[in-house]
Amino acid sequence: MSLDNLTRSMRPSVARIAADLDHFATLTEPGSGITRLAFTDLERLAHGYFGSTMSDLGLSVHTDSVGNTIAEMPGQDDAPALGLGSHLDSVPAGGRFDGVAGVVAAMEAARLLRDADIQTRHPFRFVAFAAEEGARFGQACNGSRMVSGVADASDLRRLVDADGVTIAAAMRRVGLDPDGWLDARWSPSDWKAFLELHIEQGSVLEHAGVPVGVVDAISGSTRLFIELSGRASHSGGTPMDQRADALAAASELVLTAESLAGETQHEGTRATVGKLDVQPGSITTIPGVVRLTLDVRDVDWSRQRRTAEKFLALAERACQRRNVEMKSTMIADASPVALSVPVREVIAQAAEKEGTPYRLLASGASHDTQMISHVTQTGMVFVPSRDGISHAPEEWTSTEDIATGTRVLLRALLALDKQAAE
Ligand code: HGY
Ligand code: MN
Ligand code: MN
Repeated sequence: MSLDNLTRSMRPSVARIAADLDHFATLTEPGSGITRLAFTDLERLAHGYFGSTMSDLGLSVHTDSVGNTIAEMPGQDDAPALGLGSHLDSVPAGGRFDGVAGVVAAMEAARLLRDADIQTRHPFRFVAFAAEEGARFGQACNGSRMVSGVADASDLRRLVDADGVTIAAAMRRVGLDPDGWLDARWSPSDWKAFLELHIEQGSVLEHAGVPVGVVDAISGSTRLFIELSGRASHSGGTPMDQRADALAAASELVLTAESLAGETQHEGTRATVGKLDVQPGSITTIPGVVRLTLDVRDVDWSRQRRTAEKFLALAERACQRRNVEMKSTMIADASPVALSVPVREVIAQAAEKEGTPYRLLASGASHDTQMISHVTQTGMVFVPSRDGISHAPEEWTSTEDIATGTRVLLRALLALDKQAAE
């Protein structure tokens, strides 16, 4: 059967996609939006739903020692696998679609392949990665870092959440084994390619009026933790010229980050202070200590790091002038990644064959695919985010767009499956 006829017969079910999205959305802490943080029981419940759905389809399913869940559909040949999937953890008060859309697309692709009774040449592996969001521990893509061998074991004991819990301790609390991460490593020889469907988390597709994006590069992220120590003192008794106000210093740093990213030589860089903790946080005390995070994103690593370095130099000067001490540590430093050109072309051809308008774009967000590109050739399919909003309860992507993206994703994978034997 030709690929055209094959994929024409495979129409993703909007109803099944909606039902999966609804189920994952029930797995959240109470409150606004979705809160299903990395290495929590809720994340494990989400992996459990993914795993049981895939085993009900007759696929073999296992969760590795570090929490990634992988379902496998055997191929005719003893060939390297084709992979697809995304992540199931969220940021605090996040949306229903970040990561979940890609896992739901993988689940629907598995159903379509099973229903069409297709015997692919390559094995297909459907993956739910663990702990992709950096919201809890600062570092992103923890599950995919470990399988791709770019993790640093010391991070698992160095990085902590707001309660001081390390990644390693959190993993153990949900029955995972941080010391077993080397066993979870993926071997490049086992893989032909990995593709991820993800919401765009920006507004390029919506503004262009196209339902599918073909990603050419994924931004990197340099993340800093900064502690400012001034002098807590009486807000009434302390004259303005005798203060070491840590919050005034922090405010200058926030605006420095914003103006740096706006400079022409930093065109394309995004800099964000997302967390700011003020101590003692009392109305009548000048803040003595402020802790903040800086997240610098770019598709150009040297520009990304130059921005972070320039920020630190300007911040140091501002703090000296304000008699505030500054300490900074690097939380994480992920480089941007250019995705495989041949895979990108296969995805673009799949969209064309499906008669689906698409456009090429870079990803402002980071993704597991960035790490998996250290193991095998990778590609990403984006679907539009309404108003470009993500990491917030207002995040929204239509199930129709997810179904369209799933068709392109599956068609690209089947085209890769039919490519001449290695
Ligand atoms: O932070 C990010 O870019 C992604 O959502 N983990
Ligand atoms: Mn994501
Ligand atoms: Mn995210």
